[in-house]
Amino acid sequence: MTQRRIGILTSGGDCSGLNSVIRAAYIRASLLGYEMIGIKRGLRGLASADPEHVLLDAAICNESMLSSAGSILYSDTNLVAYATRVGLSVNDIRSVLCAGYKKLGLHGLICVGGDGSLQIMAELLCAIDEIRLIAIPKTIDNDVNGTDVAIGFQTAVDVAIGAIGNVIDSAKSHERAIVIEVMGRNAGFIAARAGLASGAHVILVPEFRYDINMVKEKVKSCFENGRGYCILVVAESAESEDFKHRREIIDGVVKYTRIAYEGIGKHIADHIKEIGIDARAVTLGHVQRGGKTSASDRILGTAFGVEAVNQIAAGNYGKLLCYINNRVETVDIIDCVKNPTRSLSLDDPHVQLAKQLGVYVGET
Ligand code: F6P
Repeated sequence: MTQRRIGILTSGGDCSGLNSVIRAAYIRASLLGYEMIGIKRGLRGLASADPEHVLLDAAICNESMLSSAGSILYSDTNLVAYATRVGLSVNDIRSVLCAGYKKLGLHGLICVGGDGSLQIMAELLCAIDEIRLIAIPKTIDNDVNGTDVAIGFQTAVDVAIGAIGNVIDSAKSHERAIVIEVMGRNAGFIAARAGLASGAHVILVPEFRYDINMVKEKVKSCFENGRGYCILVVAESAESEDFKHRREIIDGVVKYTRIAYEGIGKHIADHIKEIGIDARAVTLGHVQRGGKTSASDRILGTAFGVEAVNQIAAGNYGKLLCYINNRVETVDIIDCVKNPTRSLSLDDPHVQLAKQLGVYVGET
């Protein structure tokens, strides 16, 4: 009897922990008697005429996968943008994805992706009966609805904390204010967590507008009270009256767009210089997407990889795996994408903690 086959792919921006998922899914699938293939270059790879893939085995899926960042299967960017460019309609994309799935002879498909990929899965893949799909949330931004945490977030925070520590040493030596711009897209989770854990004096996030005069006052007080330096952690999409990001809105909704957020760090540093304090801006950028995978992401990736295969074996499809109170649960993919992506709320414990320490976190 031929073995039933499960496919796995990684879609969207890379992060640490993806390889942990692939390894665990392979091991669990083997134990349950499935053959496992890795589909290269994400959903775009699946949509190609002859999807490139690799048969996963114990040599590939060894324990070094637990610590390595990136994806051994590579990742795609925006399938829909690509399809539009080459002139494919939504129905065309559905049929090419379905053709790819059939050509590979899949019994089930595990897609690891962030909010953009989940929308594509909900709109394109969940509508195809033949495709038995389980989704796993990954994103350093931690903005996927339904799950407390997504793969990659905790490593990104650790990497940011390490880099901010180096910057603090330099800020002290030169008696400067240093503004560290971190990623996060439309959510301030990385900034709030990394800022709090690094002892930042100012944390700016997109969820709460800041007052530039209050920022300057806080910086001034760091120098007046004898500290002699100041650390500001700023989310890439933070904005206020004095600084607005470019927007790309289609039919009133920000959808499938990947405008680059940039410039807020330098903008804040320039304002600080106006009050006679030397300031620099450091943008961490893609540094946060790599690094040795943290213990939490290794375990989270392993838990998700195992459960994805269990769900396929149990005949449950169209589900997103979520981590809630340290346990893997499932929600319908369709339900997860109904609401806007997750963002920081005022009662977030990290925001509250920062406020109680006198950190300026914007107009809350
Ligand atoms: O969504 C993850 C993320 O790293 C965001 O934090 C950031 O805004 C964006 O991707 C960067 O995308 P790209 O890799 O396309 O520059």
